[in-house]
Amino acid sequence: MKDIYILAIESSCDETSVSIIKNGKEDIATIINSQIDVHTKYGGVVPEVASRLHLENITMVIDECLNKANMKVSDMDAIACTYAPGLLGSLLVGVEAAKVLSYVYNKPLIGVNHMLGHICANMIGNELDYPLLSLIISGGHTDLIIMESESKFRYLGQTLDDAIGEAYDKVARILDLPYPGGPNVEKYASLGEDKYNMPKILNDETLNFSFSGIKSHVNNLAHNANQRGEEINKYDLACSFQKCVTNHLVDKTKRALEKYNLKTLLVSGGVASNSYIRKSLEDMCNNINVKMHVPQKLYCTDNAAMIGAAAYILFKNNKFCDLSLNAKSNVQLESLN
Ligand code: KG4
Ligand code: ZN
Repeated sequence: MKDIYILAIESSCDETSVSIIKNGKEDIATIINSQIDVHTKYGGVVPEVASRLHLENITMVIDECLNKANMKVSDMDAIACTYAPGLLGSLLVGVEAAKVLSYVYNKPLIGVNHMLGHICANMIGNELDYPLLSLIISGGHTDLIIMESESKFRYLGQTLDDAIGEAYDKVARILDLPYPGGPNVEKYASLGEDKYNMPKILNDETLNFSFSGIKSHVNNLAHNANQRGEEINKYDLACSFQKCVTNHLVDKTKRALEKYNLKTLLVSGGVASNSYIRKSLEDMCNNINVKMHVPQKLYCTDNAAMIGAAAYILFKNNKFCDLSLNAKSNVQLESLN
């Protein structure tokens, strides 16, 4: 079969990223232009600023990626972009850029759900066995999905309130740690000890998650200490928080693996770059004889390589879009057939 090259664009939040992916597996070139330095000044992502920066950067990032790959748009078999979910103004920049390339160069257009992208980060340089369990842990999602094939999936559980990454970011703010919160809480946690009592979270039979209670608990501890004029130990509190949310994640994931008798786990999303969480999930999987896949850290946080990998599956299933493709802030992932 002829090799398939896809140029993919990701701009759903604060990374402008472009990749060229061969056959859904091989990363020919990836450029990730992060806006973190700008948003750090504001303590979080400012949507209006994010979309303006995407607009300023998108053509440069596309050029840089093509140059790195030493390829031309005319060499591509399709143009892909993230169209949902995410910040509307940010998504629109990537969607419109992809539509222009598709129209001008007469290439098929593929709209990719960002969450499918996160899952498919595990397909870069990797072969997978189905059925499997997919755990997505990101800034907006905490999902358990059963995948019968690369195009057939069903939700088993989701967060009932905050996503795990959101909880990390909120705890970072409570502890007065700079944006981006997740990596900073991880850093503090690694230097602390588990000395604070944490609540039991959603210890039930379902495969759902909940992270808002623990966030409120951390907030109360910090607030009460402040009222009493006491210092909280940020390192220890970060450590106790991280241990508690990780136990919750591991418990529910183990429950799903056992309930559906699955032997493969895919972990993905920005929070999957957390070393403590990676190790804890891996230990659990080793104990129950499950093979775990997690992307290298570069492909955990937002990037266009994962969008190119997902687009290849859509390509094989003839799931193309016309120029009416529009950005959407929230769309639940659905099976392709
Ligand atoms: O997947 P991602 O880049 O964007 C979304 O699709 O949401 O995930 C971003 C989230 C943020 O909440 C960030 O704080 C969290 O992932 N994150 C981490 C770590 N690195 C990123 N959380 C915990 N530990 C980390 N090392
Ligand atoms: Zn993401």
